[in-house]
Amino acid sequence: MVTTIKAKVEPAPTKRSRASAKAPVKPVRKPAAASATSAPPKRARPAAVRTVKQVTRLMQDSPVGKAGAAAQAMVRAGKSSRLSQEVRNKVVVVTGASSGIGEDCALKLAAAGAVVVLAARTPQKLAETVTKIEQQGGRAFAYACDISDLADCDRFCKTVLDKHGHVDILINNAGRSIRRSVKHSFDRFHDFERTMQLNFFGALRLIFGFAPTMLARKQGHIINISSIGVLASPPRFSAYVASKAALDAFSWCAASEFADSNVRFTTINMPLVRTPMIAPTRLYDAFPALSPDAAAELVMKAVIEKPKRVATGLGLVGALAQALTPGISEFVLNQAFRLFPDSLAAQGKNGETGETAAQDLAGNPVALARKLFSQVFSGVHW
Ligand SMILES: NC(=O)c1ccc[n+]([C@@H]2O[C@H](COP(=O)([O-])OP(=O)(O)OC[C@H]3O[C@@H](n4cnc5c(N)ncnc54)[C@H](OP(=O)(O)O)[C@@H]3O)[C@@H](O)[C@H]2O)c1
Repeated sequence: MVTTIKAKVEPAPTKRSRASAKAPVKPVRKPAAASATSAPPKRARPAAVRTVKQVTRLMQDSPVGKAGAAAQAMVRAGKSSRLSQEVRNKVVVVTGASSGIGEDCALKLAAAGAVVVLAARTPQKLAETVTKIEQQGGRAFAYACDISDLADCDRFCKTVLDKHGHVDILINNAGRSIRRSVKHSFDRFHDFERTMQLNFFGALRLIFGFAPTMLARKQGHIINISSIGVLASPPRFSAYVASKAALDAFSWCAASEFADSNVRFTTINMPLVRTPMIAPTRLYDAFPALSPDAAAELVMKAVIEKPKRVATGLGLVGALAQALTPGISEFVLNQAFRLFPDSLAAQGKNGETGETAAQDLAGNPVALARKLFSQVFSGVHW
């Protein structure tokens, strides 16, 4: 059921909001590293790390460092004015807008003057995001909607079109990820169904809901938050990557049909981002990852420039390696498969999802190899 959310106002008692009222709202899990109870005792930083930090601080405080920071601020200001020109008063739908990348995008778009329409399942989290947007002077409308439920998608599209008339930009961001090797998935067909249901069919349903008015108005931009995994094919992500690849493939085909109607598609092959989505996989605590702010900047770049693809260099190298040297690529990926274990939960055993990671990153050769691998292939989720 689609529910309209108003900040600080109780949502209408629909089927979904009644259900979520019965169930206690789960707090957003923070990465384990931030947890006082589960984090391993802090070890003294090696002298080399301390020296690098000191040198970095000295450079930042120097005139050159300050000039660099000022130049960066100017670039950001320029970007934000370009963003304003692009989105002011436009209707932008962001799905999965109550957390992580989606929430950051919604805040940035609203700050740039867009009318932001937020969708996610949990009314309370949506209301919190609306409050944040309103506090910074922006305009937002939120609707509780389960995008893995096609009837809910249809109701959402109708509600948005009835209220706002059209959608200028659709950001298909809501998604779910599963990290489990194929051998542990033989009796878990539903993993593949549920990733397809949300990451492909739900997103596609919204495209089908909003594209007709985009085509009629000869104006529209559909941005899909895909994954670097589609380019790099990491092991253990077959369900997730297949569902993201399905939407990418659809969009590339549809884009050529819509090109002369000024309706554009952008695929963002997002690298690893430190959000609640990856928090349960404690292995990633030691991996380099983008902040949600940096990830949202990639999305804003897509909004401004409307490229066909936004990807990191490593993602593109991964795709190239697969195309040109598939055998070598498979060998490297197999090494990664052997190096990074399935979590106990993924193996169907009891235990914390990242238990193995917490133990192994204590400083043995395997841990060092993992660290090296994750640094070299920075941004890929293994
Ligand atoms: N984090 C990464 O490393 C990473 C890397 C590459 C790509 N991505 C992609 O980036 C997107 C955003 O991920 P994130 O890391 O920002 O995740 P996140 O912080 O966990 O946020 C997910 C958002 O989606 C909503 N959502 C989940 N299931 C939904 C459903 N069935 N219907 C409607 N909304 C739903 C959640 O709200 P409710 O739970 O209240 O519904 C929440 O607002 C995803 O598509 C993900 O695959 C993430």
